Amino acid sequence: MQKLEVFGANRLKGYVKISGSKNASLPILAATLLSNKKVILKNLPKVRDIETMLTLLKSLGSKVRVNKNQTIIDNIKQKKKFASYNLVKTMRAGILVLGPLLAKYGSAKVSLPGGCAIGTRPVDIHLKALSKLGVNYKIDQGYVIAKAPKGLRGNKIHFSKISVGATENLIIAASLAKGTTILSNCAIEPEIKDLINFLNKMGSKIIWISKRKIKIIGATEIKDISYSVMFDRIEAGTYLVAAAITEGNLKVQNVIPEIIKTEINILKKLGSKITIKKNEVQIIGNKKIKSMKIKTAPYPGFPTDLQAQIMVLLCKANKSSIIQENIFENRFMHVAELNRMGAAILIKGNKAIVEGKIDFAPAELMATDLRASVSLILAALTAKGKSVINRIYHLDRGYEDIEKKLKKIGAKIRRIN
Ligand code: EPZ
Repeated sequence: MQKLEVFGANRLKGYVKISGSKNASLPILAATLLSNKKVILKNLPKVRDIETMLTLLKSLGSKVRVNKNQTIIDNIKQKKKFASYNLVKTMRAGILVLGPLLAKYGSAKVSLPGGCAIGTRPVDIHLKALSKLGVNYKIDQGYVIAKAPKGLRGNKIHFSKISVGATENLIIAASLAKGTTILSNCAIEPEIKDLINFLNKMGSKIIWISKRKIKIIGATEIKDISYSVMFDRIEAGTYLVAAAITEGNLKVQNVIPEIIKTEINILKKLGSKITIKKNEVQIIGNKKIKSMKIKTAPYPGFPTDLQAQIMVLLCKANKSSIIQENIFENRFMHVAELNRMGAAILIKGNKAIVEGKIDFAPAELMATDLRASVSLILAALTAKGKSVINRIYHLDRGYEDIEKKLKKIGAKIRRIN
C-alpha cells in the first residue's frame, strides 16, 4: 500500500495548472456509448476513476486508444450491455452507462454501485426517472436488469431531489429517446453543462428552458466528434484552499473564474487576497482567517466536494465556525483524523463545530475517501514535522499528479511504497 510523507510547514508559491474535470469526464465517457462511430476526447485527467471508466467501456466492446492529451473511443464494434460489479463497485459513476445502453439497445444489465465512505449512494431517483421513459427494471443479485421493449419514449420528468448523477443519466438516455423529454428540478453543476455541450455537438438537441428545467429532443443522427472537457473546479478549489492555509501566494491556472465564484467569494470573506484574470485566479493567503458558517448545497451553492478542505482552513480561523453538510449523510470521515492532528471539531448531526486557532501537529493518518484524503494533506502542509498519510489510493482516484504539482509549488512531499 502506498503512502505519502509530508514535511510541513511551508508556504505554497508559484503557479499550478489545473487538469480536466473528473466529474465532467465520467458522464461524457458514458455518453460516448450513444455513438457507434469514433469520439475523440481531450483534456481527460490522468486519474484512476477515468482509467476505470475506460476499462468499463472496453468491457462493453469499445476500442480505446490513448495518445498524449487525447483519448479515441471507437464504438464501431461496441455491442455488449453488461457492466460488471467488479468495475462499478470501485467507481459509482459506472451507473451512468445504464442510460446510454438502454437508449442504444433497449436493454442493459448494470451492477448497482453500492455505498461508499460518504454515504449509501442509492440510485432510486435514476431508476424511477428511467421508468418514465418506458424502462422496466428489476433488481436481481445486486444488478439492475432493465429493458425498454418499445425503445425509450420522451416524457415529462420531475426529479424528487436534485441529483447530479440522475440528471446526467436521464439527459444521456433522453438524447436517443423518441420524441421530446422535459426534465425539471435538475442539478445544474458545470459538469452537467459540459455534458450537454458535448451531446449537442454529437447531434442531440438539448436546451435550458429555465434554471433547473431542460428540454431534450431525441437525436436522429449521431456525429463523429472531438471534444475537450472543462477544468476540474474541485481540484482548483483545493489548490486555492492550500494556498490560503499555508499563507502562500499561488496562481491557479487553466480555470474559468466565473464557474468558481462561490468558492472565491468565501475565500475572500475568510481573509485571502484574490486577483482574477481571464483563465487564472491568484490567491495570497492571510495570517488572520475569519470564522464563518458554511452550508454545502447543490450548485451554485458551496460544493460538498470542498467541505473537507475548507474545514481545515477554518481550524485556523480566529474563532469557532460551523460547517453544515447537506448533501451526503456521512461526509465527516476526515474529522477524526484532523482531531488526531490537534483539531477540535465536534460533530452534531450534519453539523461540525470547528474550533479555531489550531496548530496542527504532524501524525500518521488514514485516508478514507477522495476529498477527505486531500484535506489531510492540507493539514499536514501546515504541521511542523513529518506526517504520513496511508491508503492514498483514494487520492489517486481524483487528483492528477498531486505530489508532483504540490512539490512544484514548494511542498515537501513524497510517495513511498
Ligand atoms: C456527484 O455524485 C459527484 N460525483 C460527487 O463527487 C458529488 O459530491 C455529488 O455529485 C454532489 O455534487 C460525480 O460526478 C462522479 P448526487 P452523485 O446524485 O451524482 C442522493 C467526488 O468527490 N441520491 O447529486 O452520486 C445521494 O445519496 C464525488 O468527486 C439519492 O438519494 O451525487 C446524495 O445524498 C463524491 N438517490 C444526494 O442525493 C439517487 O438516486 C446527492 O447525490 C441519487 C442520489
